[in-house]
Amino acid sequence: TSRINEQNHLEIGGVDTVDLANTYGTPLYVYDVALIRERARSFRETFKRLNINAQVAYASKAFSTIAMVQLADEEGLSLDVVSGGELFTALQAGFPPERIHFHGNNKSYEELDMAIKYGIGCIVVDNFYELSLIEEVCNANNTNVQILLRVTPGIEAHTHDYILTGQEDSKFGFGLINGQADKAVEIALESQNIVLLGIHCHIGSQIFETTGFLLATERIFTKMKEWKERHGFIPTVVNLGGGFGIRYTADDNPITVSKYVEEIIAEVKKHSDDLSIDIPEIWIEPGRSLVGDAGTTIYSVGSRKEVPNIRQYLAIDGGMSDNIRPALYQAKYEAVLANRVNDEIEETVSIAGKCCESGDMLIWDLPLPKANSNDLLAVFCTGAYGYSMSNNYNRIPRPAVVFVENGEAQLVVKRESYEDLVRLDIPIKTQVIK
Ligand code: LLP
Repeated sequence: TSRINEQNHLEIGGVDTVDLANTYGTPLYVYDVALIRERARSFRETFKRLNINAQVAYASKAFSTIAMVQLADEEGLSLDVVSGGELFTALQAGFPPERIHFHGNNKSYEELDMAIKYGIGCIVVDNFYELSLIEEVCNANNTNVQILLRVTPGIEAHTHDYILTGQEDSKFGFGLINGQADKAVEIALESQNIVLLGIHCHIGSQIFETTGFLLATERIFTKMKEWKERHGFIPTVVNLGGGFGIRYTADDNPITVSKYVEEIIAEVKKHSDDLSIDIPEIWIEPGRSLVGDAGTTIYSVGSRKEVPNIRQYLAIDGGMSDNIRPALYQAKYEAVLANRVNDEIEETVSIAGKCCESGDMLIWDLPLPKANSNDLLAVFCTGAYGYSMSNNYNRIPRPAVVFVENGEAQLVVKRESYEDLVRLDIPIKTQVIK
């Protein structure tokens, strides 16, 4: 739902991005709310069509703000949080605690206490230490809590392929193959405070095919057979995590949301039949695929540097402080001039951020019309892990965030001010006498 309007401007959700830049300034994150709704609905409707009990939990690490959490609630999503801060954001947004799932490999006593006090839906337990902490917190609060056990199925999915890691060398979860998961199941089943709801796994992010998911499902169900025989334990829930890939550039070819879900469910059905059990509830937790392509960042173009015969650097008023993904993962993006989208392509430029760091390059070798300092650059697909990984490197204030829908714009995160940047600073007491 973005298009080019009569003025040759980029329009998102019926709102002219040039107007947005004038009103809210740049850099600016613009979210197409209708697109987020559409993605959420296609996940949920696919499960419904297949007649599967499911929860689609939005992995809020991709983009956590009060407005986004409210939107997730409106769309009937559950919510995955990974820290006290994300949990606090969710609670501030009024998200129902019983639909919140709490993740993380090093949750503190205080975080677990907060989650349990607020009546969280489930804790996704990562390790033995956490099991004992939960025991303590439950005892102190005289209550119990539902959990999933996060297992590492020994599969690491990468963009187009997957690698079998016999070593299970990951900081997350109980090893499924080395016996840790068996031990964790025993501890959870014996505990008076813990209600073992099921099993969780997450194999990676920006995955383009289902092979890894299917393999993980197979491995989990193989273990489930053992647990059923040994303890009579049958998980109510199997959570297969997130990681569904999206198209950042024309080189990316992810399959559709419904295709992911259909193939996974077919595998789950097959294995449930083999085990002669009812199909468990299937939970997933997409982050990127719900919000990634709904976000666009609008920058103002500033300086230009020519390295004769080699390269044109075109600098924008943001960079790795609002989008660290190119610097961190060599992530690729596409972009256009928002104020004259269809102008003729005249040159190839490389888009530089404004941070004092040579690695702060947003896009290499981008074909563009001849741009100058009156122009606006729109970088697409910045909705996931953009704002959420933004930082104040070089004391650059974080950009504002606007939601657009049906021709209307709504500011949902204010732009940081210089005062915000020094708000927590405390001047030293001692002073050199001059
Ligand atoms: N569930 C768990 C347990 C996860 O660890 C993650 C992502 C997700 C769900 C959501 O994955 P998604 O559907 O968004 O792929 N900062 C990196 C991505 C890190 C993903 C970490 N975990 C990036 O910008 O590409």
